[in-house]
Amino acid sequence: PLVSMNEFLPKAKEKKFAVGQFNMNNLEFAQAIVEAAMELNSPFIYGVSEGALKYMGIEFTVAIAEAAAKKSGLPIALHLDHGSSFEVAMACIRAGFSSVMFDGSHYPLEENIRLTREIVKAAHAMGVSVEGELGTIGGVEDDLSVDEADATLAKPEEAIRFYEETGVDALAIAVGTAHGMYSGEPNIRFDIIEEVASKVPVPIVLHGGSGVPDEAIRKAIQCGVGKINVNTENQVAATQTIREVLSKDEKVIDPRKYLGPARDAMIEVVKAKIKLFGSENQA
Ligand code: G3H
Ligand code: ZN
Repeated sequence: PLVSMNEFLPKAKEKKFAVGQFNMNNLEFAQAIVEAAMELNSPFIYGVSEGALKYMGIEFTVAIAEAAAKKSGLPIALHLDHGSSFEVAMACIRAGFSSVMFDGSHYPLEENIRLTREIVKAAHAMGVSVEGELGTIGGVEDDLSVDEADATLAKPEEAIRFYEETGVDALAIAVGTAHGMYSGEPNIRFDIIEEVASKVPVPIVLHGGSGVPDEAIRKAIQCGVGKINVNTENQVAATQTIREVLSKDEKVIDPRKYLGPARDAMIEVVKAKIKLFGSENQA
């Protein structure tokens, strides 16, 4: 069965590794992610954005994740990514999600705390874990778009208060990463990660994990990051592979001829991330 993130996040924080949240966009993503995790015996999180949920349909999403859990025997959480409301979070939980994120980062602090707390209360009653967000993460993900200039870093004092008043299981804070690829290198505020992580018992979540240099990822984990989200790198690997296959042979019409290689490319991306995050053999 699918598990709550509390099955592995406390251990991740204690042993200083991070569990990857790999976004599911279709069947091939789901297969590539679980295949990589099986090869390396790693726990992981399927992240599903509201856009991906609309695309796949909630029933297919849950069925695919449950099939992956059954086939692999690994601790897998099915997690709503950047949930926008209590209603969406509850619909996901009712359908079988084992974890949800509520992203109230665009609300004033008090409102974000109030809304997140309501979701935590309802989710915890059903054994479902919750991630909250503070500060705004730049870049574009699906319908969510934040101008880099408007991205604001999380304030440590506020993040600590947010944790204490909401009781979230994982805390996403804006520390300089962005959704999508980077034109240069991200300027990550390790000091903010360290300060908040040392004062709250739950791990910090790093969004925008694609394109972050390996060294910065290792350092972030040492500072207290226990969950890292990756989506764009898999999208890039899949799409580049499909472009290559199609441009080499105009006669290809069987989708398996390009989706199969795309899936193989994603397996390599996920395996590299699992090794980098240190979650290998932690299932
Ligand atoms: O919530 C999802 C992630 O933050 C993905 O970010 O597409 O930059 O890897 P990414
Ligand atoms: Zn994100």
